[in-house]
Amino acid sequence: MESKENIEIHEGLSGIYIDISSICKVDGINGKLYYRGYPIQVLAERSSFEEVCYLLLYGRLPKKQELDDFSEKLKKERSITDQTKQIITSLGRKAQALDVLRTVMSSISAYDETPYSSEESKNIEKAIRIISKTATMAAAIGRIKKGEQILEPDQSLGHAENFLFMLTGKKPDKDAAKLIDVMFILHAEHSSNASTFATLVTCSTLADIYAGVTAGVAALKGPLHGGADEAALKMMIEIGQPENTEKYIEDALAGKKKIMGFGHRVYKTYDPRARILKSYLDIVKNKSTEDIKRLIDISLRAEKMMIEKLGQSHGIWPNVDFFSGPLYMYLGIEPEMFDTVFASSRTVGWCSHVIEYWKNNKLFRPLEEYQGPLDVEYVGIEERN
Ligand code: SDX
Repeated sequence: MESKENIEIHEGLSGIYIDISSICKVDGINGKLYYRGYPIQVLAERSSFEEVCYLLLYGRLPKKQELDDFSEKLKKERSITDQTKQIITSLGRKAQALDVLRTVMSSISAYDETPYSSEESKNIEKAIRIISKTATMAAAIGRIKKGEQILEPDQSLGHAENFLFMLTGKKPDKDAAKLIDVMFILHAEHSSNASTFATLVTCSTLADIYAGVTAGVAALKGPLHGGADEAALKMMIEIGQPENTEKYIEDALAGKKKIMGFGHRVYKTYDPRARILKSYLDIVKNKSTEDIKRLIDISLRAEKMMIEKLGQSHGIWPNVDFFSGPLYMYLGIEPEMFDTVFASSRTVGWCSHVIEYWKNNKLFRPLEEYQGPLDVEYVGIEERN
């Protein structure tokens, strides 16, 4: 933070509060995370992505009938139009997966006669549509990338397991269904992170919720944010063998490289989501291929070394993106698709924050301190030599 005369520059808005929210508490000192007051560990263990969506959007857990009705609404919105499939098919093999998702995310507003609404109930309906269709679109992108047919949703499956079915073509077994549901829950919401902030800035101009989530997908892409899971896995693949891990990390740090999947603007201790994901490594390891077992071994050795070198001393610990990669691979999800899973899940966080922020909307317009000359004389092109 630099100080010039009487102004303070807050780089990256670090440490700046933009609003009061009742959606999510991120306790960076103690490594705790709450959605509407419920500890993330409890939700991961006992809830479902559908129930977490209801909790985030409505502010309380649903009664049985409410959850059934909400889940039915999500199912009804799963299908995507032939036009959307055409866009995915035409872009799918060339463009990066998340770029295709950003493009089709923008296009679904065309099927809503009133993309913008000031009514909360209407915006919740739009949120349900966005949450549901994003998973279908992401899965369709994954299919086209593999040169396979786009699959129709299986209405007998829950949201997350249906996503996995539409992507892989195989109905997940009970353990895989639970794991993908947990991954959706863990990625659903995280207060004013960069992509949620991008969504809020967009909707603070009273642009519609579709424009907001499109901005969210765009912001999520970078390796400092949602792109870190793919980058972390690519590092594990580059390390190749577990015994190469320590030297690789050593050399990277010596070269001032950042190790993807570690560090966080808010968590200065272990990211509670990473702890939960790490616990699933033990569960999947003995059912994994040799390649995935190797990735898991590398991830655990990298974690140990990074904590020793930068944990206590620098507050740099594993974050949600570090262990996600090996688990996604176990589920049959390719690295390029990781951030489309993240985006599919985070749609509920983006929408929940827009709906809350619009209750007391304020246009975001921070300042920049200008540094440079003023009233410069304009010299015509003829005189400029
Ligand atoms: C997500 O905000 C959210 O809530 C995001 C998220 C969500 O759910 O929405 O939690 C999801 O995006 C998690 C973060 C995923 N990104 C990565 O894993 C990328 C690697 N991490 C870093 O780029 C970094 O830790 C950030 C960007 C996440 C946070 O960094 P800050 O707070 O901006 O701090 P910084 O980059 O200025 O780093 C401070 C120091 C620097 O060293 P110096 O220049 O002071 O010597 O710590 C070092 C950095 O080099 N550092 C690292 C490091 N992260 C920070 N060094 C090595 N490896 C790292 N991963």
